[in-house]
Amino acid sequence: MVSDPEIDNAAAILRDGGLVAFPTETVYGLGADANNSAAIRKLYAAKGRPADHPVIVHLADISQLGQWTRDITPVAETLARHFWPGPLTLILRRAPGVAEAVTGGQDTVGLRIPSHPVARALLRKFGAGIAAPSANRFGHVSATTADHVRQEFGGTVDLVLDGGQSDVGIESTIVDATADQPFLLRLGHISATDIEHALGVPPAAPHERSPRAPGTLAAHYAPRTPLVMMESDLVLELAASMSRQGKNVGVLARSALQPLIPGLKWIAAPHEAAAYAHDLYANLRLLDAAGCEVILVERPPQALAWAAVNDRLGRAAAGSRLP
Ligand code: TXA
Ligand code: MG
Repeated sequence: MVSDPEIDNAAAILRDGGLVAFPTETVYGLGADANNSAAIRKLYAAKGRPADHPVIVHLADISQLGQWTRDITPVAETLARHFWPGPLTLILRRAPGVAEAVTGGQDTVGLRIPSHPVARALLRKFGAGIAAPSANRFGHVSATTADHVRQEFGGTVDLVLDGGQSDVGIESTIVDATADQPFLLRLGHISATDIEHALGVPPAAPHERSPRAPGTLAAHYAPRTPLVMMESDLVLELAASMSRQGKNVGVLARSALQPLIPGLKWIAAPHEAAAYAHDLYANLRLLDAAGCEVILVERPPQALAWAAVNDRLGRAAAGSRLP
């Protein structure tokens, strides 16, 4: 998949203050040396992201935690034991000396030990923290393949490591673990129920505590084409009427039975929540590239298993209206 010399090269680029995109099990990350503020500023510029947003520091091993946080709380210890390496980010009080560029000026830092073998190989080789937001332009759909990353950034990234398609497909679950009461700041593959099972207490709901977390802004993870969620029968009705007006319509459907409507770009999404999430961003990118007036998304079930998918779709739809 990715050779040892490629990993060596990637680590050398990071040491020189360059940018390396790499696969994780959630989505691709755009990495920079987390101890190098100039490199992190370069990363923000590449993303077009405001400078006061904090960024997650990725680590190879739990033994590095003490370099980044001054307070490994019991909640953090339990969650780390259960879910690391894996798709979980913990917000903890930052250690002295952690760069402002990493924390966005806050007193906390986001930390994650990913499980993807390429990410782990890179982190081990580099031997220090790698700051990595999702490898997409600010506000846009995250990247789940190396090709997506290249489409987002062209030549502004020094190296893209190709580790195939990300397994999970949506960004990590984020838990504020600074206190005895954990807060769930971003939904993800690791659910509130999983966290409750690990801790014995439920995390508090997504909350106003993190106004600077871009993934928590209403309009985020969004394709460029307007995206509207609706019930199945309405999707068909609207697609047919827009087609009669000569408009191309994209549909992210729950049924494989594509109706015979001219100008329709139909993608049948998987039926099960994890598989739906795995394909979600790739599907949104395909529909975005199809030159449609609008993307209609057949509303997934409102069940708990779909909470993270519904969260991302809701944000992708925020601010969109039917043309
Ligand atoms: O799955 C993921 O988490 C991916 C992969 C690459 O690891 N990364 C990712 O990074 O999604 P990003 O920057 O796109 O989203 C990270 C979120 C942002 O909403 C950021 O504001 C929040 O984490 N965050 C980071 N540090 C934080 C902090 N100290 N306090 C509150 N939120 C924080
Ligand atoms: Mg992001």
